[in-house]
Amino acid sequence: VSKRSYNARAVVTGAGSGIGRSFAIELARRGGSVLCADIDVERAEETVQMIEQDGRQAWAIECDVSKSDDMRELGRRARELFEGPVSLMINNAGVGIGGRPVGEIGEDDWRWALGINLWGMVYGSEVFLPQLKENGAGGLINVASTAAFAAAPQMAAYNVGKAGVLSLSETIAAELSGSPIAVTVLCPTFVKTNVAVDGRITAAGSKLASELMRRTGFHPDRVARLTLDANDRGRLYVLPQLDAKAIWLMKRLAPRTYALGAGLLNRLLDGADGSETAAESEKTDGSQSVSAPS
Ligand SMILES: NC(=O)c1ccc[n+]([C@@H]2O[C@H](COP(=O)([O-])OP(=O)(O)OC[C@H]3O[C@@H](n4cnc5c(N)ncnc54)[C@H](O)[C@@H]3O)[C@@H](O)[C@H]2O)c1
Repeated sequence: VSKRSYNARAVVTGAGSGIGRSFAIELARRGGSVLCADIDVERAEETVQMIEQDGRQAWAIECDVSKSDDMRELGRRARELFEGPVSLMINNAGVGIGGRPVGEIGEDDWRWALGINLWGMVYGSEVFLPQLKENGAGGLINVASTAAFAAAPQMAAYNVGKAGVLSLSETIAAELSGSPIAVTVLCPTFVKTNVAVDGRITAAGSKLASELMRRTGFHPDRVARLTLDANDRGRLYVLPQLDAKAIWLMKRLAPRTYALGAGLLNRLLDGADGSETAAESEKTDGSQSVSAPS
């Protein structure tokens, strides 16, 4: 077992909340220095304060992972602050989107979701793999989701991005096979974070996701710890929960039955009403979504 999660020079995207914040704090506890990147820099600064209270070193930086210039700048800043290449990169930032079937999602929402959830991790890998190689050893952790293989209905824009992240991670793992750089892809079901309320999820979808999260969700600290331990052991796949493992097995062993189940779920979801996003329903208590195609 390597100790690459200890005393790391680490970058975490989306470090201002949820799983990203837990990764940053745990890495600092393990003796590392952490560059906390987030589109919401105030949240990233809060994470830095938490780390500094523990007597560890961290920095906050504003960065939109969907912008290649921001990601290149993140790479430059990291090298400068660490006075050398990073040893651990965590592509974590992601957004929730769901509640509408394909044909009603609209190009704007597709581009927004894939820009962050897929391109963000593509940029993160392109920018930081050369630094990890220069360092000679280290880890790359990409946060996907069970959505990467579950193909749950009314979540296409999310599913497609996460499937891309899974494939990206598997490919990089093959390319780095035999090297001392370990790639890990995290595929959780529900984790207790802000992802179900902050994104572009319809009110009914957000309510359902928040309820499932409250009942079945793991604490993000636990997910961060076991993912770092898995990367130390050189494990590619991390499916922290039993339901994630069950979906993975079911899809492979009984794909037709699985597809029938997914269709049934869609009919159940169609029974739930409301198509405005959670944020819109809060603001307007209203009837029509601004991002719905006209
Ligand atoms: N919470 C879950 O149930 C769950 C399940 C599976 C996968 N995930 C994945 O975990 C990752 C972390 O999400 P979370 O659940 O901690 O959510 P969260 O909403 O609590 O945190 C996400 C953070 O990312 C930041 N962010 C959003 N857009 C960004 C951008 N363009 N650039 C930089 N930062 C940005 C947000 O400001 C926020 O601080 C995501 O990739 C998400 O898809 C979460």
